[in-house]
Amino acid sequence: MNAPAESLQLASIVDDLANRGWSHQRLALPVELSCALAGECRSRAAAGNLAPASVGRGDGQQILEGVRGDRIHWLERGQSAASDAYLDLMDELRQRLNRELFLGLEDFECHFALYPPGAFYQKHLDRFRDDDRRAVSVVAYLNTDWQPEQGGALRLHLERGEHDVLPEGGSLVVFLSANLPHEVLPANRERLSLTGWFRRRGGPL
Ligand code: OGA
Ligand code: MN
Repeated sequence: MNAPAESLQLASIVDDLANRGWSHQRLALPVELSCALAGECRSRAAAGNLAPASVGRGDGQQILEGVRGDRIHWLERGQSAASDAYLDLMDELRQRLNRELFLGLEDFECHFALYPPGAFYQKHLDRFRDDDRRAVSVVAYLNTDWQPEQGGALRLHLERGEHDVLPEGGSLVVFLSANLPHEVLPANRERLSLTGWFRRRGGPL
């Protein structure tokens, strides 16, 4: 699948990250690509291929539905044309961020996430307490026709107050992982996304 990198609006993402640490781009992914990714996420769910998401890392991992209720599947290169096209786009973004903001991002890890109706993810930071490799978070939304009354916003807890982003298909949210607390509010319909992190070299502290 061919996805032109210009559609990501790379220049605005870079500017936003430099100026305020986060960026929201509507219609960032080609429609064809976000539809294919949504289809893949749904068929993996139907095949019982999604696992309850955990909290923490390594030996400290726990499944806590009172903290996060999504089900996930980690992407691997070669699993589908759509996933590969998405990973290619993310690599364009990674190189651009390194070139312009000198972030030294080495790799990207990413999973599909399906939130059943009513599921949420409590306020958190994406960087683990004992591992500071995650530097930039990227969430791509895959539902079409999302309406505000359906809930499911990503709530960013910015220094100047809360900012809600609706999970509209094809849109992308990018933010610096270290210091932006955020949460996923419950929705009254199934909510699909791809959540990922650009990581720097380093390791467990
Ligand atoms: C996460 C997360 C946000 C979203 O998975 O860490 O914060 O909007 N997801 O799905
Ligand atoms: Mn998060």
